[in-house]
Amino acid sequence: MHKLIISLLVMSIIAVSCQTDNKTKTSEADSAIDVKVEALLAKMTLIEKIGQLNQYSSRWEMTGPAPESVDSMAFYTMVKEGKIGSMLNVTGAKATRNIQSWAVDSSRLGIPLILAYDVIHGYETMFPIPLAEAASWEPELAKKSSRIAAVEASAVGLHWTFAPMVDIARDARWGRFMEGSGEDPYLGAKMAYARVKGFQGDDLSDETTIAACAKHFAAYGFIESGRDYNVVQIGDPTLHNIVFPPFKACVDAGVATFMNAFNTINETPATASSYLQRDILKGEWGFDGFVVSDWNSIGELLPHGVAADKKEAALKAITAGSDMDMEGNAYINNLEELVNEGEVDVALIDDAVRRILTIKFKLGLFDDPYKYCNPEREKTVMRCDEHLAAAKEAAKRSIVLLKNENNLLPLKKDGLSIAVIGELAESKDVPLGSWRAKAITNSAVSLVEGIKNTTGTSKISFAKGPDYTVGYRSFVTELKINTSNRSGMAAAKSLASKSDVVVIALGEDCWQTGEGRSQTDISMKGLQQELLEEVCKVNKNVVVVLMNGRPIEINWMAENVPAIVECWHLGSEAGNGIAEVLFGDYNPAGKLPVSFPKSVGQQPLYYNHFNTGRPTNGEGNVFWSHYTDESKEPLYPFGYGLSYTTFSYSGLELSSTELTADSKIVVKATVTNTGEVAGEEIAQLYIRDLVGSISRPVKELKGFEKITLEPKESKVVSFEITTKDLEYYGASGEWNVEPGDFNLWVGPNSAEGLESSFSLK
Ligand code: BGC
Repeated sequence: MHKLIISLLVMSIIAVSCQTDNKTKTSEADSAIDVKVEALLAKMTLIEKIGQLNQYSSRWEMTGPAPESVDSMAFYTMVKEGKIGSMLNVTGAKATRNIQSWAVDSSRLGIPLILAYDVIHGYETMFPIPLAEAASWEPELAKKSSRIAAVEASAVGLHWTFAPMVDIARDARWGRFMEGSGEDPYLGAKMAYARVKGFQGDDLSDETTIAACAKHFAAYGFIESGRDYNVVQIGDPTLHNIVFPPFKACVDAGVATFMNAFNTINETPATASSYLQRDILKGEWGFDGFVVSDWNSIGELLPHGVAADKKEAALKAITAGSDMDMEGNAYINNLEELVNEGEVDVALIDDAVRRILTIKFKLGLFDDPYKYCNPEREKTVMRCDEHLAAAKEAAKRSIVLLKNENNLLPLKKDGLSIAVIGELAESKDVPLGSWRAKAITNSAVSLVEGIKNTTGTSKISFAKGPDYTVGYRSFVTELKINTSNRSGMAAAKSLASKSDVVVIALGEDCWQTGEGRSQTDISMKGLQQELLEEVCKVNKNVVVVLMNGRPIEINWMAENVPAIVECWHLGSEAGNGIAEVLFGDYNPAGKLPVSFPKSVGQQPLYYNHFNTGRPTNGEGNVFWSHYTDESKEPLYPFGYGLSYTTFSYSGLELSSTELTADSKIVVKATVTNTGEVAGEEIAQLYIRDLVGSISRPVKELKGFEKITLEPKESKVVSFEITTKDLEYYGASGEWNVEPGDFNLWVGPNSAEGLESSFSLK
């Protein structure tokens, strides 16, 4: 015993001294980098400095409209002259080596380029879209998928991803809902932190880690009416309490870069906002990485009407703290003149260059500019078995069971005649999602294939039904949906009538979601609703597999179909993951990271809303906060999701009902598996601040725990509350903790739970 205690002590002393050592090492390494950066800076001409702030996309892959045409040959000349510091959309070990060697060998100072790409939910191995992955409520899962994405991306010579996208979103009309973690800042912050850690690891110079980029700073998810690139009007408390937490979590995780945003915030474009980039990010939060503009967002200061020309745009953006100009041509063409005219202090340029060079040094690019470029690794890591296995794990853990009347699910693997219906069921492309990096077209496991793989039989029957989409589908084109050609309808109905069970895949094509894909109608498009109703007329055992990248309107389905499984766009292994859930090899445990509306008219809809002055209709008259034609409640609340077993919550206990500045309250509740099979449950803690100096949300998520329970097993979940959890940014422009009374809930979602209360003295 004695020995054990002594060796534990020794181990902890070693651990502490290792930690101190590591810290010292990091700061030594950092200051060594600082010295190198200063030495390099001293050698640079003004135009070479400005070159470091200039980023172009390759012309063979464009993720936005090119503001001016610059041909590939011109790039080579500019690189040679030190006028380009970074490129995006150059991929493949050969191409990245080629451009890098040109920069290193032909330019005067040989400064390596930093090469970037949108690796959002995988590089070739596709993971679930980020919204889906958030439904797992497992930050470790997101960390792992980001880690794998980095391993694949780095092998082809990429150093930097434009991810994670951490915009809180509340309006399902917005196509980019799929790219973030949903509506909640607490869950969003946990996922954001994990993703940064996944991409960057503990050491940026490791050849398998890449720099991450927290985007889009800020409030892009709050664009008016869900229309992409639209304006944002937002109050300061909401900006700080709801929008900022995931960004702050990225800074805490050591994120290397930030991207600003296309939108205005209260009339000032984010790209020209000193408040966001200098005061908050680089000031209050002490962020020491660099900020890249969004695609030509400096150039877009012109149509926003805050700059008369690119020169003024460059002046505004550099002054506000945008360090690198993506595809804007504003810095490279104007900053030199602005400095010479005394309009821009060269110290601003030096600061931006320092930040960029520091990240290049941290990545190890000055030691070996090609270290990330590894054709051997490129050949072996892409879609390797280990990565695909992780993608399958992530797929099944992201699935949310929304309805399961009379335990229709899970299905038996044999003895049933199963009809699989719908274009989305055989699609090997839709599950890859919309920001799909280098996913190979049609490389996902379709639902039909997944069912065959899982049941070990090819006896299922498939009918496509009417076409869902028509024509060419791609990242840059508008999707065309079939609304009139009903061929295939009768065959699908006939198959449904002859089968024991129907599994029908419905929802959205992946190209209905993503950038530029806002919609005013979030119900199922085309002939899908009609197909569903026809099938339901002839078969009562209908399981809907939903594939979608935003919350969609499914009232009729929720009313009339016995089983609904939310399967989002789940990536390379989608079909296998879904089939494991349908046939009970995996018991679904995901919970919605977003409220599902009853109608588009309810948008924006979110659980952490305010009470209003007239929350209920005690008098029975019309004068209260509601709609006359629709409930104001969601169809499925935030945090909701079922399992093949059931859970009960009991014994809510607080260690004290009074909290003080230096104490904590331990909250405990017992969760019991009351069903027949093992399952996982995500227990959630919500708090309401009853009276504040400004209005406070009716509920806020403050903790969650995912536990596994065998049948009849009980476990105690435990949460700690300190004053930190009660802090909020108030009207005074400060973070407050105000004494008063608080309600608290522990339960399975944002609308249910055991309730208690406490007060802060
Ligand atoms: C998007 C960014 C993306 C960039 C580069 C922009 O249009 O808003 O999220 O990183 O393009 O592809």
